[in-house]
Amino acid sequence: MKTYLVTGGAGFIGSNFIHYMFGKYGKDIRIINVDSLTYAGNLENLSGIEEKYDYGFVKADIRDREAIRKVFKENDIDYVVNFAAESHVDRSIENPEIFVETNVLGTLVMLNAAKEAWETEDGYKEGKRFLHVSTDEVYGSLDDPEDYFYEDTPYSPHSPYSASKASSDFLVKAYVDTYKFPAVITNCSNNYGPYQFPEKLIPLMINNALHGKELPVYGDGKNVRDWLYVDDHCKGIDMVLKGGRIGEKYNIGGHNEKENIEIIHIILDTLKEILPDSDERKKNISEDLIRHVTDRKGHDRRYAIAPDKIRKELSWEPETRFEEGIRKTIEWYLSHEEWMAHVTSGDYQSYYEKMYAGR
Ligand code: NAD
Ligand code: DAU
Repeated sequence: MKTYLVTGGAGFIGSNFIHYMFGKYGKDIRIINVDSLTYAGNLENLSGIEEKYDYGFVKADIRDREAIRKVFKENDIDYVVNFAAESHVDRSIENPEIFVETNVLGTLVMLNAAKEAWETEDGYKEGKRFLHVSTDEVYGSLDDPEDYFYEDTPYSPHSPYSASKASSDFLVKAYVDTYKFPAVITNCSNNYGPYQFPEKLIPLMINNALHGKELPVYGDGKNVRDWLYVDDHCKGIDMVLKGGRIGEKYNIGGHNEKENIEIIHIILDTLKEILPDSDERKKNISEDLIRHVTDRKGHDRRYAIAPDKIRKELSWEPETRFEEGIRKTIEWYLSHEEWMAHVTSGDYQSYYEKMYAGR
């Protein structure tokens, strides 16, 4: 039985990954989730998991060297999947420091702890793997509509978030090159699906539309993101972990580029279609809610992944078409009002007001 150490498993992609892996391997695997439960971490995303599967939760910060070493000492970890990060670009523009601390220093702590636990006299224990979950944002922004991000596209991060992720990628690569450490990196495009915190475009727009609140579009709304249903990302991570070549990086994306404004119209149209006339919330849904606001500083214009390598080497293919995925996602949010109420309690409102004040 393989033991996975998943960091950031209480967040959006991490919790979907834990559901995906138990759904696929059931009781044949063990997962330990290490998460410090920031504003973005929510154990409700995993409720019921421990009763059904071999799952353990450790509340710890990946910057805490001793806490992380303890997890490795107490468990024979086979695979590390490092999701834990500060993940929101707007927050990184407001407060860059925590991004460097968690994303760079936290990753370094994880690398050192795994190296220490796995090292032998002549290399590393058999079969151990460290997968670092990264992003397409490290490549910067594409101007030419015919261009795509490949694994050898030079890094050119623009936001403090993407700069911190790029730094962490370089550290992982440095551990491979210097210590022959058994690591791989994935660089994925924008994910969407259940459990995404409503500071990000898709859940923010769904939640605001349902409550008749304005839909803040940054700039002209024509920035392009390449959207991938979260389960397809999880499937790619699993494949790279098992079949990816050590020291390599793999781009993950499904050629699904859309302008932000198009996404917003799709959300409004789908909500109108799904909600029955008897649902009070339907009255709120309107294009009149769209409001163009001051652009994000340093806003990247277009991201687009070329997933040729993962397709060719590992036969990865996305399974969820966007029309199906966005519908499933909207249906999930419609049936999880309580989840939304919980994650938007606390300091969410003040975050929201601060983020959009004067825009
Ligand atoms: P998220 O913000 O939803 O979740 C992050 C999780 O990490 C939370 O549970 C949080 O509590 C935890 N965390 C934060 N700081 C921590 C610390 N110091 N110690 C321990 N736990 C900590 O993020 P997400 O969208 O699920 O992204 C997960 C990873 O995937 C990130 O590394 C991100 O860069 C990467 N990624 C995200 C996307 C996307 O579209 N969301 C796309 C590509 C790559
Ligand atoms: O590309 C992968 C990245 O995708 C991940 O690495 C990040 O962790 C993740 O947050 C996401 O980054 P983006 O900045 O692309 O996601 P966000 O949802 O914040 O914004 C998507 C686009 O929508 C972006 O062009 C900004 C725009 N936007 C966003 C918000 C929150 C708006 O126009 N209005 C908004 O209110």
